[in-house]
Amino acid sequence: MRATVNLIASENVLSARARALLPSDFGHRYAEGHPEPGKRYYQGTRHIDVIEARVRDEMKGLFGCSQAEVRTVSGTNANDVVFSSFVKPGDVVIVNSLSVGGHISHQPIGGMGKYTDRILEWPRHANGYQIDVDRSKDLIAKEKPRLVLLGKSLIMFPEPVREIAAVCRDLGVLLVFDGAHVLGLIAGGQFQSPLAEGADILLGSTHKTFFGPQRGVVLSNLDDKRWKRIDRLAFPGCLSNHHLNTLPPLLVATYEMKAFGREYARQVVANAQEFAKSLVAAGFDVQLADLGYTQSHQVAVDVRKQGGGGVCAAKLEENDIICNYNLLPFDDKKLAKNPSGLRLGVQEMTHWGMKEPEMEEIARLFKACLIEGKAVREEVDHFRAKFIDVHYSFDPRASREDAPTKRVSGSKGSPIDMDLAGY
Ligand SMILES: Cc1ncc(COP(=O)(O)O)c(C=O)c1O
Repeated sequence: MRATVNLIASENVLSARARALLPSDFGHRYAEGHPEPGKRYYQGTRHIDVIEARVRDEMKGLFGCSQAEVRTVSGTNANDVVFSSFVKPGDVVIVNSLSVGGHISHQPIGGMGKYTDRILEWPRHANGYQIDVDRSKDLIAKEKPRLVLLGKSLIMFPEPVREIAAVCRDLGVLLVFDGAHVLGLIAGGQFQSPLAEGADILLGSTHKTFFGPQRGVVLSNLDDKRWKRIDRLAFPGCLSNHHLNTLPPLLVATYEMKAFGREYARQVVANAQEFAKSLVAAGFDVQLADLGYTQSHQVAVDVRKQGGGGVCAAKLEENDIICNYNLLPFDDKKLAKNPSGLRLGVQEMTHWGMKEPEMEEIARLFKACLIEGKAVREEVDHFRAKFIDVHYSFDPRASREDAPTKRVSGSKGSPIDMDLAGY
């Protein structure tokens, strides 16, 4: 974990406080149903009830919504709960395709394909990255889909939620935003707020830009009738035990997001922008210059001149820099193993305390490795070794500006100690 510069855009690390709770006894237990009295199907869930109810309430508070399903164990599981709740055979849905960065669970070969075979793709502008709003509105009016899905895995810029929501509202189409990647940036107020902009449902993973362990969430302001379908398709529809040992760390992560999420998300976006600029200065073809490269944690680089994404990712790994190769929108799908792109995410390194100067340094190491063909492993290891504590946390060793004593507003004493004493 501390030996490599990790730029995988979908990963992050737990704070020491959250991590210490992972092996708790909760991992041996069941708690089907809901934490309210009389709504469990097993006895012995008293302590779990406190934590689960608190996670649910804190999520609602953080995202300003009235409904939160926190039992899903991953983003894919959360997606499946929602797709199975609303999509029936023959229904039309519109999604981002795989080649433009859509997630596999949105595709005919993924979760969505279990429910319907009428999966259409959003029309796009010539750059391939952005949705063409006018043509998309026409498509919705013509096809009258059951559900449309915005949000994707290669996501540098906000999606046109407000514009698409206006049409969906008129036609009674369910608008879902898959915020798996950007959940922590949304919580930190640094990305669009899909629910406030008109999405009916916000889906997310809790472990990419959010500080948590691997789980998923469904967030919404849907009416009770439609929310009941989600509730029933979560349990018993799509899960039973829900890896309960990951609930206490998620509660800690949610408190950390509440206390430090704004600072963190601001630094993540600043780092991604600095990294993009430094890569350009180093001679790389960073995508979407005309839009300012990125407004998220991600940077996409066309590395065809350096041998392709697969070749570059392998060379970087030999030098202890980890990232993933990625199709770029103009790629032929046959290039899947050596596509044009690298997708780089700075959220984990930011969590370890890196700031703009470190982004410049990583860009320099990229140049040395991929353009000058030098071995940089020792340099990388030396550089990485300076970042030993997770920042933006309540841990005593968490650093400096994100001071250890910072409290969640409105709470008395440490909220973590109050909720988690004894677990
Ligand atoms: C847009 C999107 N949705 C869903 C997922 C699935 O998340 P998980 O890995 O938590 O199942 C991902 C994963 O990267 C994703 O990028």
